[in-house]
Parts: sequence; structure tokens; C-alpha cells
Amino acid sequence: MHSKKDYIGVFDSGLGGISVLRELVKAMPQERFLYFGDSANAPYGQKPVETVRQLTLDAAEHLFSRGVKALVVACNTATAAAIDILREQHPEEIIIGIEPALKVAADRFPTGQVGVMATEVTLHEEKFLHLAEHYPALGLHSISAPGLVELVEAGKGESDECETLLRGILAPYVGKLDALVLGCTHYPFARGVISRILGERTQLLDGGAGTARQTLRRLMEADLLSPEGNGDIQMENSLGTPEIFNRAMELLNG
Ligand code: DGL
Repeated sequence: MHSKKDYIGVFDSGLGGISVLRELVKAMPQERFLYFGDSANAPYGQKPVETVRQLTLDAAEHLFSRGVKALVVACNTATAAAIDILREQHPEEIIIGIEPALKVAADRFPTGQVGVMATEVTLHEEKFLHLAEHYPALGLHSISAPGLVELVEAGKGESDECETLLRGILAPYVGKLDALVLGCTHYPFARGVISRILGERTQLLDGGAGTARQTLRRLMEADLLSPEGNGDIQMENSLGTPEIFNRAMELLNG
């Protein structure tokens, strides 16, 4: 029998964090993951920040009550709104939060033109504004994409509808960006459409792989890595419908 402490909890407002889960599984195939998506309350990104904070604290409580050995907040919006208070409330836990991959962009294009596409909450929270201050040489463009999370939740991240929405949002940036940071974990599921619109000149960057590396490092430091041959993924979703589980599995395996 394995203990519940074998699991790494992964949380997002919905299905987006599966883009991070995929990187986590790649980096640590021997680990057991318990993914909780709060699709019943998605999208978080346009809600008042206090609401996002409370939803995140509730979701974290739920995962900690299941006894996970680490929590990965696979949602930029939840990280922006609640990671500090989460760490204050659970000083003994390993908590990793994803943030927009500005460092990767700055390493590749130190004085480049870089778009950061993220939710309203992420773009307006202190956390992101602080992060941006670290890269004064970058030409940063904040881009919000209302409607995109909903399309990904509906399994339409690579649809014509999504392409129409994104052509409108990205029109001012075509041919102008060295990189576009996908600062919301739902957006990698529209990567094909985004790269078709922006073309090869613009690199698309996301924080999934970096978050997975950081999680691996933290577990290694704490001597909490699982032995080989233990890998498992459990999916939970606050919507609880067969459709949402099927979509989650499609995104995980797609
Ligand atoms: N996936 C979340 C993020 O990384 C946000 C989606 C939402 O608005 O709920 O920011």
C-alpha cells in the first residue's frame, strides 16, 4: 500500500494546469499526481482578486486534506492572487507556483519586444508588476485575452472560433514580437492557432517546464522523490461531469 503522502497535488482553475501536469509527468514519470481542476468556477481571471484568493485557499485546503506531499499551483492567476498567503498559512508545506516565463524571454532576447498574454488578474496584481520590474530592458506588452480560457475549457483551443478570437486580439502584434509569453496555463492548448497567427518569427514561451524542474528540485532537496515504477495520475474536477473528465484526459494525452 502506498500512503497518500506519495501524491503531488496540482491545482488550476480548470483544465489549463494540465499543460503543467504534462511537464511534471515528463520530468518525474515515477511520481503520483492528484490533479484538481476547479472548472465549476472557471474562469478565475476576471473575478475580483479576493474571490480568486478564497477559491485558491479552498482548493489548496482540499488537496492538503488529502495529504499531498507538495502542492503545485498550476495557475498563474491563483499564484498572483494567493501564493503569499498560502505559504503563510502552510509554512511547513512545499508549495510551488507558476509565474509568467519572463526570465526565459529575457535570457533569449535581453532587449527584445516581448508580449505577455495573461488574465486580467495576473496582469494587474503586484506580483507580476514586481516581476516585470526585474527586466527593464525588455519592451513588454501586456495582452489580455478574454474568452480564450472559456474556449479551452470547452475543448475548442484549436478551433476556427478560437482563431477568430485570437486574430482580433493579436492583430496589433503581428510581426512585432520576438517572443510571446503564454502567462496562463490554458493558453498552451491554443499554441497551434497562436503560432499560425504570429508566425515563426515570434517564439512562444510558457512556464510549464520551468515549474516542473523547480518541483523536482524541491522534492529532491526534501528527499521526497518516489522510487521508480510508482507513476499514477488521478483527476478530480469540481464540475464532476463525464464530459469534463473526457476533455481532461484528451488534453493530458493529446
Ligand atoms: N489557467 C489560469 C492561469 O494560468 C487562468 C484561467 C482562468 O482565468 O481561470 O492563469
